[in-house]
Amino acid sequence: MKNSSKYLFKSERLGFRNWNSSDIEKLHELNSDKEVMEFFPSIPSKSQTSEFVVRMIKQFEAKGFCYFAVDELVENKFIGFIGLSEQTYEAEFTPCIDIGWRIKKEFWNKGYATEGAKKCIEYAFNQLKLEKLCSIAPIINQKSIAIMTKIGMKMQLEFEHPLLKNDSRLKSCVVYSIENDTLTT
Ligand SMILES: CC(C)(COP(=O)(O)OP(=O)(O)OC[C@H]1O[C@@H](n2cnc3c(N)ncnc32)[C@H](O)[C@@H]1OP(=O)(O)O)[C@@H](O)C(=O)NCCC(=O)NCCS
Repeated sequence: MKNSSKYLFKSERLGFRNWNSSDIEKLHELNSDKEVMEFFPSIPSKSQTSEFVVRMIKQFEAKGFCYFAVDELVENKFIGFIGLSEQTYEAEFTPCIDIGWRIKKEFWNKGYATEGAKKCIEYAFNQLKLEKLCSIAPIINQKSIAIMTKIGMKMQLEFEHPLLKNDSRLKSCVVYSIENDTLTT
């Protein structure tokens, strides 16, 4: 398959695509890095990673979006995921579609998360016509919150994450959001 047809959309340096079974091993490697997973309650097992990939493929088929698999275009290397996913846990702001990211350490601090997230917002608002996106992070994940600010999201509220209630380090979270002002009301 030619690179031009492999991607759903591209940013300047990145290609965004649905997942395939050959990504499971690459995502497992990313998920096994303790520093990458510093702000998550646990390191996913290989089977949890595999289930995640299946869930993303199904969500993409049903809704037209998921946390997209992302490749760096020049070297054609998988760098991680950036994309959109439904959040349905019980909270004041749910259900919502969130924008999220997880990138291999060797690719950090090159502006990829910022570039990719901006492109995903464009895709969500212009192609998918979504009304609003949110983004959620534990307050201690300041690096992730910095991305939210850089891509134009605004702080909406602080909350205790219902799935992290027993984790005193991670349970205090923030929601940032951005609305689609190109939609006519
Ligand atoms: C968060 C993450 C996606 C950022 O990816 P990235 O491609 O390195 O991000 P960018 O290069 O676009 O931007 C990084 C920014 O964070 C800043 N930064 C780095 N460490 C920081 C810190 N401890 N606190 C605040 N900002 C920080 C950098 O200076 C840079 O900002 P700048 O470009 O304005 O100088 C990446 O670190 C990652 O995958 N982390 C682990 C997974 C994760 O935590 N996901 C979010 C879960 S809520």
